[in-house]
Amino acid sequence: MLPWKSIITINRKEIRPVYLQISDAVIAEIMKGRIQKGLKMPGSRTMASTLCLNRKTVLQAYDELMAQGWMEIVPMKGTFIKQSLPEVKQQSLGDVLEIKSEAQTNSSKYDMPRGEHVIDDGTPDYRLAPIDDLLKTARSVSKGLVGKSVLLGNHFFGEASLRNNLSDYLSTTRAINGTKGNILITRGSQMAIYLAFAILLSKGDEVIVGQLNYHSADKAIKSTGGTLVKVPVTPEGLDLNVVEEKAKAGKIKAMYITPHHQYPTTVTMPVENRMRLLELAEKFDFYVIEDDYDYDYHYNRSPILPLASIDRNGRIIYIGSFSKILVPSIRIGYMFASESIIKKCGELRMIIDKLGDPIMERALAEMLANNDIDRFLKKAVNTYKERRDLFCKRLEEGLKEEITFTKPNGGMAVWVNFKNINIQDLVETAQIHKLTLKIDVYEHTNKACRFGFASMNLKEIETNTDLLIKAANAVLSQ
Ligand SMILES: Cc1ncc(COP(=O)(O)O)c(C=O)c1O
Repeated sequence: MLPWKSIITINRKEIRPVYLQISDAVIAEIMKGRIQKGLKMPGSRTMASTLCLNRKTVLQAYDELMAQGWMEIVPMKGTFIKQSLPEVKQQSLGDVLEIKSEAQTNSSKYDMPRGEHVIDDGTPDYRLAPIDDLLKTARSVSKGLVGKSVLLGNHFFGEASLRNNLSDYLSTTRAINGTKGNILITRGSQMAIYLAFAILLSKGDEVIVGQLNYHSADKAIKSTGGTLVKVPVTPEGLDLNVVEEKAKAGKIKAMYITPHHQYPTTVTMPVENRMRLLELAEKFDFYVIEDDYDYDYHYNRSPILPLASIDRNGRIIYIGSFSKILVPSIRIGYMFASESIIKKCGELRMIIDKLGDPIMERALAEMLANNDIDRFLKKAVNTYKERRDLFCKRLEEGLKEEITFTKPNGGMAVWVNFKNINIQDLVETAQIHKLTLKIDVYEHTNKACRFGFASMNLKEIETNTDLLIKAANAVLSQ
């Protein structure tokens, strides 16, 4: 038996629950290649007595590993590390690519008149956001800081307390382990996306994206000199066989993904694919920009850990934001990457935005340290889960002959496929019914779209889905 007691170290002072500390440790060992696929895991009783823990905690950890796709039960034989995981070769840490410096819109949904009734494409309910708390904290922070250096500058990489606290937060919530040197604070994640491509790309470099993709990422790639290479999106995220094909030509410099919930289709990339993608990035020498815009919203279990948590070679540039927790006008996002990438992006950020917003950043740092953000998210997740359930039920009942969709396990939107209805017709007809569909209409498909459920309360969901169903029926009868 492996020396589990030395492999899995539990720190009871950590906020991250013990069962997740166990699953994190097992995943980390798999990624290091020290736990091989097909390994038989000890029974839960044995593991519990080895680690001096309650058996329930071990069972929870095993459930987590199975739910995330790392482990499987073989009937009559026991619990095993999944056979279908790709082989992991041990590799050294460090920077692998040479990094070069260099630097219309589909804004229809933003220009649309906003009626009384709105279904958007997946934004939080900003009425619930802890803005008063943030502003109160900012006021008290700024009082104590008048005349001090925090108001004067030298925050090229963002406010130090936020970088420190964020580093703890990322470690606790998603097993991304680093220091403040791995973190750059940005004006929202959009700036982080732009900076990443600006330092990576030279004119004509190819970047892989989903055939359907977050359009502002596409724009950032194009405006920093990149060429989009579009790859089909499957129910398991971007098609990795096609990615491999494209990468073989040797011109791919980077790839942009949203693996937690692919934007816009909401599909989740399973563990096997994440590992294979890391392998491909290594083999074909490209970076992966992991935009984790909605990691905090998950309804059934803990989410699959980000690729950044299993990256051993500095291939992943991880990007996150607080605009989906607070409000988009509080522009605080971040990048987590190797120190050399952070340094390059920080130097570039300084040219665009010298100082950031030190007071808001310090206030957010305090809210993270006091667990205010965590507490808020727990409430928001329960609220959004209820809204997701009602929204999906209403769609199912009202449009079951016309639509298909998979109920999302997290996020703030549902990707809906229509059989006969053209989305542009639906948007226009909905407007006549006093419902504004603040959604994107995609060039690649005119029969599918993203409906957000999180920004409406239960009563608004009832009213707005009634209007949506009426509009859909009106299109069908035209
Ligand atoms: C997939 C995705 N990435 C990034 C962003 C940018 O967010 P931010 O407000 O942090 O710039 C958004 C905003 O909606 C988004 O949907």
